[in-house]
Amino acid sequence: MSIIEQAIERMGQLKRAGVDIGEATPDEATASAPASAAPTQAGPVADARPTARPVPAEPAVEVSRAANEQSRYVDLDLARLDSMGMVVPSAPRSQIAEEFRVIKRPILANAHGKGAAPVDNGNLIMVTSSVPGEGKSFNSINLAMSIAMELDNRVLLVDADVARPSVLNLLGLPPAKGLMDVLLDRNVGLPDVLLRTNVEKLTILPAGMPHKNATELLASSSMKSLLVELAHRYPDRIIIFDSPPLMVTTEAPVLAQSMGQLVLVVEAGRTTHTMVKQALAKVQGCQVKMLVLNKARYARTDGYYGYYGYGYGYGSDAPSAEEGKAA
Ligand SMILES: Nc1ncnc2c1ncn2[C@@H]1O[C@H](COP(=O)(O)OP(=O)(O)OP(=O)(O)O)[C@@H](O)[C@H]1O
Ligand SMILES: [Mg+2]
Repeated sequence: MSIIEQAIERMGQLKRAGVDIGEATPDEATASAPASAAPTQAGPVADARPTARPVPAEPAVEVSRAANEQSRYVDLDLARLDSMGMVVPSAPRSQIAEEFRVIKRPILANAHGKGAAPVDNGNLIMVTSSVPGEGKSFNSINLAMSIAMELDNRVLLVDADVARPSVLNLLGLPPAKGLMDVLLDRNVGLPDVLLRTNVEKLTILPAGMPHKNATELLASSSMKSLLVELAHRYPDRIIIFDSPPLMVTTEAPVLAQSMGQLVLVVEAGRTTHTMVKQALAKVQGCQVKMLVLNKARYARTDGYYGYYGYGYGYGSDAPSAEEGKAA
């Protein structure tokens, strides 16, 4: 069977699975809505977040590079990230690095089976929040960088917020192929789209090309299979998923079902207790749920927010199993 025939068959499979794989129109690719419209009501609301930065449309089917070709290499501008108040290897004792040292410790213990209880797929870690803008991407990148700075851990950072990807943008990198391309084109394999970086143990899987059914794809059986492949192909890696928010998307709770650990970023002074409880209620099946209180303001001289509290619980919706000051 030719590559084109294989691709057509793959598209047929996706269609049969209920995924509309039509191309996004230019209007759909650029439609936007106010980003600051935080929902005030309970329950699911429409995802009113702006869509991804428009990237030139690419055909859904194309001939990929050879699967055994080396992953691409990108240089992260670490001085820029440092100036943005992020964790970087050159400043291992910075305030933010110290905070993430505390945050990552139980995550790594669970991932390596050294936590209080065994965790299935403990190396799959979803970073999410109740509503948009609470700091998921910022926390995902910092967590990934912090873990990659460890001697023994390799990290794969996945931009799974496919409707509004921002990992590459935050890292100062141009748009690149990624998750969506792997899901839509069977001729694109993971090694084709992974980005190795100048932080030796950090690899990035971008969100990939924008697609009008990106969110459905994220909740599809193809995505589930990909997660299984990731977990088995890279069992020694900590895989961090920068994910959509739980209360404004339906795909985030579905994605959570495949994750071993979930980190819920809570924006201090904005996200209410009720919102946190409602968000946690959507991910009851996830064995380990942790909370990071983000953007809490306390005395810092450099103008950046700091992290303040951290708590986690096993299979409980109550975020109070453990709390401590992270700095
Ligand atoms: N602790 C922090 N200190 C400094 N800046 C922060 C902090 N947390 C988040 N930010 C900044 O706030 C903005 C929003 O954060 P981020 O993009 O991580 O949120 P998000 O939850 O991923 O948003 P979205 O739902 O739109 O994907 C970004 O500009 C980010 O750099
Ligand atoms: Mg984000």
